[in-house]
Amino acid sequence: MSKEKFTKKILCIGAGYVGGPTMAMIAARCPQYKVTVVDINEEKIKAWESDELPIFEPGLLEVVKEARGRNLFFSTELENNIKESEIIFVSVNTPTKTFGEGAGKSADLQYWEKCARDIRSAAESDKIIVEKSTLPVKTAIAMERILNENEKGLKFEVVSNPEFLAEGTAVKDLENPDRVLIGSKETESGLNARNEIVEIFANWIPHDRLITSNLMSAELSKLVANSFLAQRISSINSISALCEKVDANVSEVSRAIGKDSRIGNKFLHASVGFGGSCFKKDILNLVYLCETFGLYEVAAYWESIVKMNEYQETRFVQTINKALFNTVTNKRIALFGFAFKANTSDTRESPAFYITKKLMEEKAHVVISDPKAIKNAKVDLKDFNNKIEYEIDPYKAAHHAHAIAIITEWELYKELDYEKIYSNMERPAFIFDGRNILDHQKLFEIGFNVYPIGKPHLIHFNES
Ligand SMILES: NC(=O)c1ccc[n+]([C@@H]2O[C@H](COP(=O)([O-])OP(=O)(O)OC[C@H]3O[C@@H](n4cnc5c(N)ncnc54)[C@H](O)[C@@H]3O)[C@@H](O)[C@H]2O)c1
Repeated sequence: MSKEKFTKKILCIGAGYVGGPTMAMIAARCPQYKVTVVDINEEKIKAWESDELPIFEPGLLEVVKEARGRNLFFSTELENNIKESEIIFVSVNTPTKTFGEGAGKSADLQYWEKCARDIRSAAESDKIIVEKSTLPVKTAIAMERILNENEKGLKFEVVSNPEFLAEGTAVKDLENPDRVLIGSKETESGLNARNEIVEIFANWIPHDRLITSNLMSAELSKLVANSFLAQRISSINSISALCEKVDANVSEVSRAIGKDSRIGNKFLHASVGFGGSCFKKDILNLVYLCETFGLYEVAAYWESIVKMNEYQETRFVQTINKALFNTVTNKRIALFGFAFKANTSDTRESPAFYITKKLMEEKAHVVISDPKAIKNAKVDLKDFNNKIEYEIDPYKAAHHAHAIAIITEWELYKELDYEKIYSNMERPAFIFDGRNILDHQKLFEIGFNVYPIGKPHLIHFNES
């Protein structure tokens, strides 16, 4: 197909969990545009060109295959692709800074700024730059300054288009989003740029879900959305701790409060804690922003969401240790799931990492099972690698185990034959359901000692 056949040429820098799926969806829904995704990671680009995509996401391969080679291309070549594109999405990683000013809280912008400088040096025509990465408020303004300080007389307009997809349901979220947010400066050129981006998404998303705002509101909304979502999880998790003390059942409490339409029933599921690359990072970014402006009470309020999450993870390990007679040393403990949530291979900030680390410190024999995340788990746990066992088959992982801990809510763990599993475990056999996904009464009847989150423990002997 000749280049002229395409009405827009779009580039995305960063072929990760956001860049890859987002661009695949744009290309699949808009065959009239040429969409190219570049990354510095050659292996990742090769994987995007194959049927073994670098990330596991239900339905993604079908979307990629619909457009790949037609109007969706993957490449490691940056310069020419920058030159040829009119619109450049930047979807590189923005992790928490680990050094210097703001270490542990603020976003590390080095990858983002490098992209801005690469774009400026390669560009030969005016361009719209779209912030897809999650960034601190006012980054777009700073980037526009860097980009527009060029000697070529080129004009760059920076637009913020934060991504709200959730891993595990990315394809569904991109196909049918609750909303798409596009923020820009409210100048004539800013509004023109905004309209160009609206036009892309209007190809398949109804206009009433295409929300526009000023730049700073768009940037801030992304941090606030993730902070609110995480806040609900920490809120119900805090209540789960109380439920365990007063013999209440957190699922019953969730159901009762979730029926209140002012509260709503989503994100009220108690668990071992939230993970993922975004929640903690984005909350801490918000905390840092508040501290920068001297809003220390506001910062402390949001920081408590992260602290509560850490408490929940700690509590889970303490429960395991206490139930196993205060020693897990040399005991085989099978972790069912290492991904931070079901239907993804992503393990970034997974509670599984903290739990494994703590159990290893206590010299437990940890066996990790996960249908999709073992490769990433091995990388995360490389410091322990020769001491940890990895076993994709949960039956084998639980063989001769003293305990099973459910860490990820994979559907398959609900459907296992727990009688068979129990028959091959050490006695007494324990199960710690960190996701509250199993039939606890049935497990108890099989013979397990069952420790759900926020519900009475079902044990076959008296705990002292
Ligand atoms: N993962 C999510 O669920 C999610 C959801 C919404 C928003 N976000 C945000 O989107 C952004 C990207 O997140 P992600 O999960 O896709 O990260 P990721 O680490 O999966 O992908 C980022 C990619 O950018 C590439 N990269 C870095 N610098 C580059 C450069 N100079 N040139 C070319 N490629 C470069 C990296 O090699 C990597 O493949 C982050 O800001 C994140 O906060 C993530």
